[in-house]
Amino acid sequence: MITSNKNELEGEEQLDLTLRPQKLNEYVGQGKIKNNLNILMEAAKERKEPIEHVLLFGPPGLGKTTLAHIIAREMGAGIKTTSGPAIERVGDLGSILTNLNDGDILFIDEIHRMSKLVEEVLYPAMEDGNLDIIVGKGPSARTIKLDLPRFTLVGATTRLGMLSAPLRNRFGVTYKLEFYEAPEIGNILKRAAQILKMEIDNSGSQAIAECSRQTPRVANRLLKRVRDYAQIKGEKVISRPIATEALRLLEVDHLGLEPTDREILTVLVDKFSGGPVGLKTLAAAFSEEAQTIEEVYEPYLMQLGFIERTPRGRKATRKAFEHLGKEYIEENSTNANENKLF
Ligand SMILES: Nc1ncnc2c1ncn2[C@@H]1O[C@H](COP(=O)(O)OP(=O)(O)OP(=O)(O)O)[C@@H](O)[C@H]1O
Ligand SMILES: [Mg+2]
Repeated sequence: MITSNKNELEGEEQLDLTLRPQKLNEYVGQGKIKNNLNILMEAAKERKEPIEHVLLFGPPGLGKTTLAHIIAREMGAGIKTTSGPAIERVGDLGSILTNLNDGDILFIDEIHRMSKLVEEVLYPAMEDGNLDIIVGKGPSARTIKLDLPRFTLVGATTRLGMLSAPLRNRFGVTYKLEFYEAPEIGNILKRAAQILKMEIDNSGSQAIAECSRQTPRVANRLLKRVRDYAQIKGEKVISRPIATEALRLLEVDHLGLEPTDREILTVLVDKFSGGPVGLKTLAAAFSEEAQTIEEVYEPYLMQLGFIERTPRGRKATRKAFEHLGKEYIEENSTNANENKLF
């Protein structure tokens, strides 16, 4: 961990925590999920039981972690959080599970990155509330079943497809978080501005919302940067002109694309004539990990209809060419030329 800017980081993290909604009715948007969760939670409370295991999936920053904490708070339950890669050994999971209190929420972030061995220990725990412990080695080894406290597993993943079917099937409900509509992001911004004790008018929140990639985390981050800019300029109220100028300095364009996003598109268009090109090749040309491109950058570029996933790889669409101000290259036009030549 880098310590030089620790204080600054802590400040930002603290701010993120204060911006995080605590109750379901403060959680903006995702109406279907909220309705569904309400019923699930009310019914479980009446029966004095923990709710079923919940799987949350969707791109980064849409509110999965926030929702997990809200579930715990609404259920009046404790929450223990960990992540798939953090549970290295079977024993780690064993000690997490045996240390839960009755009714607790166990939140496992990035659950798709859990090892197979650890995952298999989770199955009986989720299904029957048992922990199977193997004692001894070789022919004399035997399994002891431990009764676990009643708990709810809340799993979060950006990659549903990477979850094994047996694990997926053991969740009672699976919720897909959607990108947010502009008015919803506007509401998130207004709420955040209130908490941060700053004034923002409708035009200002709209301007930031338009550039927020339909993602609350991005909206909050941009709001903080716009606030810095307004403060330095001595502006009391954040209006559209202030927001627009601050965003321009941050090199965020009107669709919310940042330099890295535009670079990915540019590499795809310039180096690979728009594709299709395999993810690994694209990642290598861009000096970035394939996983990062796929999980962090691609979802929004796909949401905008700039990138398509095809069986032969990633492809830039006409819209992407136009956004970069380049002439569209029809796919296979090079192949067609080759065919003509030979
Ligand atoms: N529905 C919402 N209403 C208001 N604010 C929200 C909402 N969803 C998310 N936020 C804000 O956005 C921030 C990011 O959300 P969160 O950390 O829950 O995302 P995530 O889906 O867990 O992302 P990741 O996949 O990167 O872990 C939160 O700190 C919170 O302030
Ligand atoms: Mg999270």
